[in-house]
Amino acid sequence: MILANNLYDNNEQILLKANTALSEFYINRIARLEYEGVYIFDGDDIEKGKQLISDETRINAIRKLKRLDINACIFLANNIVQEIRGSESLIIEQVSLSSYDNYTYVHSVNVDVSSVIIGIGMGLTNAELEKLSQAALLHDIGKVDVPIEILNKPARLTPEEYAEMKKHPFYGLERLRKKEGDELAAVIKNAVYSHHENWDGTGYPRGLSGDAIHKYARIIHVADVYDALTTKRAYKDAMNPADAIEYLMANSGTMFDINVVNTFIHYIAPYPMGCTILLSNGQQGVVLENNGKNLSRPKVKLENGTVIDLMEKLNITILSILT
Ligand SMILES: [Fe+2]
Repeated sequence: MILANNLYDNNEQILLKANTALSEFYINRIARLEYEGVYIFDGDDIEKGKQLISDETRINAIRKLKRLDINACIFLANNIVQEIRGSESLIIEQVSLSSYDNYTYVHSVNVDVSSVIIGIGMGLTNAELEKLSQAALLHDIGKVDVPIEILNKPARLTPEEYAEMKKHPFYGLERLRKKEGDELAAVIKNAVYSHHENWDGTGYPRGLSGDAIHKYARIIHVADVYDALTTKRAYKDAMNPADAIEYLMANSGTMFDINVVNTFIHYIAPYPMGCTILLSNGQQGVVLENNGKNLSRPKVKLENGTVIDLMEKLNITILSILT
């Protein structure tokens, strides 16, 4: 097996370079570090996992978030907008693979990328996208003030612990308020403070509803829940993208703004490249490539090595994701 992407450790140093052959020694080492998985090459068929932003930007953003360097985060959030706007495809099909310790930071970057894609889909201007991106990257900055044993608890939280965790939007607001030379736009503080509000008023901290919740917060909320659902944590498995899309749609109009969900689902591949699916003809296959026009009909490599394009085999449907 050949590693497809660079693998980074918790200090954002390269642990293994892309194209490294994975010996048993490396595989054991990766398993010990509790990575959820890595991308590997499968012959020449599967290209490396498509990245919407460069590794350099991603790693830099994680580093600056860890150091609470808000000015650097703002600069990087603007870079992220430009990189995504320059990207060939806006389809999200890389499953988030991180080690547990870095969860909050990796999650923040993922939420930022998804938020910007939604913003582009909703027709935001460049200046609006930059503000949205800044708020999205900083949305969980208040978690630094939540006790670490609650934040990284490898189990579900007790009601008391959850009440403490729910204070992180307020802690985030306080941190942004205290920022030196306080020129940070009010919308960013508002969005960070409001990213756990629900469309129907059942969210926190203020229980705002509908349009009273800032548009950026409504976008970040959807991106946030999607990434949390599709990420494996110590106490729960990762939900596959197809099921997570179902979850977003089922909770539209209650938790989420319907317009935001409807925009987002156009950009998520329910069957990401590399996943194994079960087809209605009883065969199994690996997704080789997604069709940008119809994300439900990818190209699939069957167990016998044949490649079929589901755009051309309309009588075959996808029943489920196996792995
Ligand atoms: Fe949050």
